Amino acid sequence: MAIVDAKEMLLKATAERYAVGAFNCTNLIQMEAVVEAAVELKAPLILQASVAPSKFLSPAVIGVIYKTLAQSAPIPICLHLDHCSDVQFCKLCADAGYTNIMIDASKQEFSENIRQTKEVVDYCHRLGNISVEGELGTVSGVEDQVKVAEDEAQLCDPQQAMAFVEQTGIDIFAPAIGTAHGVYKTKDPRLDFDRLKKIAEMINGQKPRVPLVIHGGTGLQPDVVKKLVSLGGSKYNVSTDLKHTLIDTTYAYISDHRQEYNPGKIDASVKEAIKGRISYWIGLLGSAGKA
Ligand code: 13P
Repeated sequence: MAIVDAKEMLLKATAERYAVGAFNCTNLIQMEAVVEAAVELKAPLILQASVAPSKFLSPAVIGVIYKTLAQSAPIPICLHLDHCSDVQFCKLCADAGYTNIMIDASKQEFSENIRQTKEVVDYCHRLGNISVEGELGTVSGVEDQVKVAEDEAQLCDPQQAMAFVEQTGIDIFAPAIGTAHGVYKTKDPRLDFDRLKKIAEMINGQKPRVPLVIHGGTGLQPDVVKKLVSLGGSKYNVSTDLKHTLIDTTYAYISDHRQEYNPGKIDASVKEAIKGRISYWIGLLGSAGKA
């Protein structure tokens, strides 16, 4: 079943008010762990690779791993290129079999953001069932090569959002509403729920048209996550949590087994730990049983 169009997957989630977990992976063990956890919970899934791991492993290798995992899984799975500010690299990943491309031109002027985003949309739509995610406003923090200082971050203007969606033809939309990449400095970051609600009503009020993405998923409290989903967020991005889990678990395992030289055991402990985190997120997002 498993290779599907992200837009269709997310329109269903928008209509039924749950969110699909979109999990950033940097290696094969993480990808396998994420897929296994989603299969066990019968949840639709978006695997994400940002630009650095996509370049390190190469889009072709990531594309083949994805196809192999997805074709044998009984759930719908997409492969998403995350936060790419380079139009040419977006096209390369689309050619390599990514099913979902995020062109992040959000640091550009509005008109230039539209121009670059539309170029990627036109290319991906010509190729076939490849969805494109665009961003308006900026999410603070660091995600791969995209760095935005807190005082540089700008929230998404709802009127501009409508124009952006219409003029670019994007399939999936990431409005900046105050979430941030990385670890939040406070337990209770200031998010603009009303802004999300307004944008969701304007774009998807009559019927779901362009699913909305919540970036900066790590570290938000469960009630906040549920509120963001209830207000219309149907793709929920998690990256930092999985990086920390990978590194902390590896470090703990090696510290506890200084005399052991068996990489397979480190991989197994990482896999179990990542699966635990994915189960947590899928439970919170309400996507279990929706595949
Ligand atoms: P976190 O790193 O805060 O989980 O954000 C992930 C993200 O938004 C990836 O695009």
